[in-house]
Amino acid sequence: MSKMVFMSKKEFHFSFDVHSSDKELNAADNALLNEARKVTKNAYAPYSNFHVGAVAKLSNGETVVGTNQENASYPVGICAERVLLSSIASRYPGQSVDTIAISYDNKNGKSNEPVSPCGICRQSLLEYEERTKHPIRLILSGLTGEVIVLEKASQLLPLAFGGNDLRS
Ligand code: THU
Repeated sequence: MSKMVFMSKKEFHFSFDVHSSDKELNAADNALLNEARKVTKNAYAPYSNFHVGAVAKLSNGETVVGTNQENASYPVGICAERVLLSSIASRYPGQSVDTIAISYDNKNGKSNEPVSPCGICRQSLLEYEERTKHPIRLILSGLTGEVIVLEKASQLLPLAFGGNDLRS
């Protein structure tokens, strides 16, 4: 006789585009990515030597930049993505974001493949999508090489904790 089983399986799935270089992007995405690459020079990263640049194209057409800002007291440092989101929310409150391009210049090594946002930044991106009710596309690439395009930043954080979990 078989046992009663109440467990169910669920799956999380998402797909994303991988381009072999920025040449395969449309003109707007290419321009945004190259701004992110350029703005890495404004990062303050004397401890890690890992200079990150993030540039957002807002739904109102404006562009806002962010870079990582480190500190001798290491945990005080802030990632480029959260510098960027804080700046957007302060300058254009309530404004949704269509796309964020993120690049980096690793002064200790290579910068030729995409990196994706750290865990804390994924949580911040999710909250920004939720508060503006608008998905944020991500364009990820180093200074050269492959480019990843994701349609919704929060896909990077499955089974996320969010504002709804705090409601009574
Ligand atoms: N960093 C970012 O700014 N964004 C990321 O997505 C990954 C990491 C920064 C934090 C720190 O200043 C340096 O890169 C090395 O971790």
